[in-house]
Amino acid sequence: MNEQDKFRATVKAVHRSLMLVLVAVVVFSGLLVFMMVDPDFSSLRSKDMASYEVVQPVEEVDEDLIVDGIHVRTGLIEADGFMEVVNNCTNCHSAKLVTQNRMNAERWAATIDWMQETQNLWDLGRNEEIIINYLVTNYPPLKIGRRAPLTGVEWYELKE
Ligand code: HEC
Repeated sequence: MNEQDKFRATVKAVHRSLMLVLVAVVVFSGLLVFMMVDPDFSSLRSKDMASYEVVQPVEEVDEDLIVDGIHVRTGLIEADGFMEVVNNCTNCHSAKLVTQNRMNAERWAATIDWMQETQNLWDLGRNEEIIINYLVTNYPPLKIGRRAPLTGVEWYELKE
């Protein structure tokens, strides 16, 4: 091997190690940049279920759905005047409060007056009659009270 070949071999060796250093620097800086963008390397990890947020599908409930004659949203019986009741009587309180109170027409009128005077219930106009009719027809006062007096009983005298 003459001087020239020796020199060439040295240059080649130096060149190779320089290239290795260069590649190492490029790889290392690439890694650094990746770490800055994604510090916990999350995009390299396999996507297991736990890393997904569980999103429950929102069930769409049809506001006007009626099943077996019952308005599902309010529980009211579907009959004449039912929409007037839904629109005027379920805004402030549950429809349950309406239907659990079984009154006659006069008491309904008085209850509505009371709400208008003290609870900011608006003037119902012609709907008041429709609403009262609906309530009296579909939620009539229950016939509860004292049983009929007994008849045909032979009472006996208590003796001292
Ligand atoms: C502006 C709001 C509002 C609207 C609309 C409304 N109410 Fe009320 N209502 C109230 C408030 C407030 C109460 C008292 C609730 C309580 O005591 O918790 C009440 C109570 C009642 C009660 C119970 C009364 C009692 O003696 O305990 C009935 C029955 C009732 N409402 C029926 C109706 C009917 C029928 C309609 C439709 C015509 C209606 N409400 C519309 C506000 C309203």
